[in-house]
Amino acid sequence: MAYGLLKGKRGIISGALDENSIAWKVALRAKEEGASFTLTNAPLAMRMGEINKLAEHCEAKIIPADATSIEDLEKLYTGSMEELGGKIDFVLHSIGMSTNIRKGKEYGDLNYEWFLKSIDVSALSFHKMLQVAEKLDAIENKGSLVALSYIAAQRSFPDYTDMAQAKAMLESIARSYGYRYGKKNGTRVNTVSQSPTKTTAGTGISGFNAFYEYANQMSPLGNASADECADYVITLFSDLTRKVTMQNLFHDGGFCSVGISEEIVARMEG
Ligand code: NAI
Repeated sequence: MAYGLLKGKRGIISGALDENSIAWKVALRAKEEGASFTLTNAPLAMRMGEINKLAEHCEAKIIPADATSIEDLEKLYTGSMEELGGKIDFVLHSIGMSTNIRKGKEYGDLNYEWFLKSIDVSALSFHKMLQVAEKLDAIENKGSLVALSYIAAQRSFPDYTDMAQAKAMLESIARSYGYRYGKKNGTRVNTVSQSPTKTTAGTGISGFNAFYEYANQMSPLGNASADECADYVITLFSDLTRKVTMQNLFHDGGFCSVGISEEIVARMEG
């Protein structure tokens, strides 16, 4: 159901790779709620061509940008403001990548160049998005920026390796920049810590199926789907959450507050 929550708002949505991507679902919901926005992804990801389908459906222009490149981000903001006819009300950072995970490196055998790349792509890019926006004065008063995180920022998940540090930094950036942008023009900055979700980035982590099932059985509401994540992110872009900032918001069916569930007890006893 649509409520017109983003009527008249202008946005930038990064990270839609294919129809499983969380960003893809956010774009569909943002369109339904009346927003106009641009789509962006790394030039390499564009080659897959999937994003064109989404752009057509959402009547959205695609502006390629490597989120680690200041120059690309400058073009993204100026291009988006030109295309949409004004300053930006909301931005979704839905970007994550670890070569150490991709190549199956263990935590005691990480490649440090790749580690730095993970931090740059998955965390520092959020700071860059914020800093470039501030310098260009690209965010409308009372805007909203959201990045997607994971509970491995707080708890140990062995196969998440260097992404755990990247997510911890991402959440810290939301707090620090949230303060700054709040003072500047009432803009809020938050992270949403999402359940394991079956996407390209998610399923790339070894043991994914096990921790997907484990989280599902631990959470009283079950895992949150990508569609449900999109619903939540839309509320954060809307005017209904104007005083929510500098938070890491768990969207995980209750997982983060559970010690053990009846289902897991039954399994251990069985
Ligand atoms: P996805 O693989 O569909 O999206 C990741 C996106 O990052 C892709 O579109 C990719 O092209 C983009 N990307 C990678 N390097 C980039 C760069 N240098 N510049 C610009 N874009 C770049 O997977 P998903 O799951 O939708 O990931 C979105 C976000 O959600 C990520 O931050 C991920 O860590 C986070 N997340 C995912 C969970 C999951 O289980 N799938 C759980 C919690 C958080």
